[in-house]
Amino acid sequence: MIDEALSSIQAEPVTLDLLRRLHTEALNEPAYVSTDGQLASAALDRFVALDPDKCTLVYLLLRASGARHIVEAGTSFGVSTIYLALAARQNALAAQAAASRRGGGDDGGGGKVTATENEPAKADKARAHWVQTGEGLDQWIDLRVGDIRETLKTDLPEQVDFLLLDIWAFLALPAFRLVQPKMQIGATVVVDNVVAAKEEYADLLAYLDDPANGFKTSTVPYQGGLLVAVYVG
Ligand SMILES: C[S@@+](CC[C@H](N)C(=O)[O-])C[C@H]1O[C@@H](n2cnc3c(N)ncnc32)[C@H](O)[C@@H]1O
Repeated sequence: MIDEALSSIQAEPVTLDLLRRLHTEALNEPAYVSTDGQLASAALDRFVALDPDKCTLVYLLLRASGARHIVEAGTSFGVSTIYLALAARQNALAAQAAASRRGGGDDGGGGKVTATENEPAKADKARAHWVQTGEGLDQWIDLRVGDIRETLKTDLPEQVDFLLLDIWAFLALPAFRLVQPKMQIGATVVVDNVVAAKEEYADLLAYLDDPANGFKTSTVPYQGGLLVAVYVG
């Protein structure tokens, strides 16, 4: 499962080896129990990471859309962030190359992942993982440590192309609402576990399904259900 998923990722061998090792560790962690949208305290230091097949889909969506300004709600040990940063970097470099082919030099758009984690110890581990990547991906990540309801209140990019919601369900809608004003047509939101935690996500799902809010959605049948929502205006 891990190797098959990684075969679709464009990355240096050292980065692929790191991802293989981190996914193996995460998949070997015992499952945690979440109640009422809150996480059991025993899970606070658990190595939780988005499954490799879901990470690959996210990476390919990012590459297909050319997304460069990405927000991650819930970073943990930084595994999914590596995929987001790979795509942000590759899309930014591709946009820059296209601009210089047109004779315009730097297109000025850059690219960045705004990552968020509440637990300082997890944030430290995430940073330590990112510096081990072959591409220097730590340079492409702005990690904000603290409660996401505060850390995303200020200094978001002018435009957010993609939001990964991989956080406790009761925080998903508040995080989404902070980022939503920065979304333009085509902005994409991916949410993990929407089938398994349907009740906990009821507020977010109702919001995304309301035609007045301008999103179209589809749930991909990965484990627990992975929602893809696109802002169509
Ligand atoms: C499912 S994990 C993220 C996994 C990560 N996306 C990956 O695939 O590697 C969710 C993370 O959200 C963090 N979290 C929980 N409450 C938070 C809050 N209020 N603000 C920021 N992060 C929070 C948890 O500590 C946990 O590490």
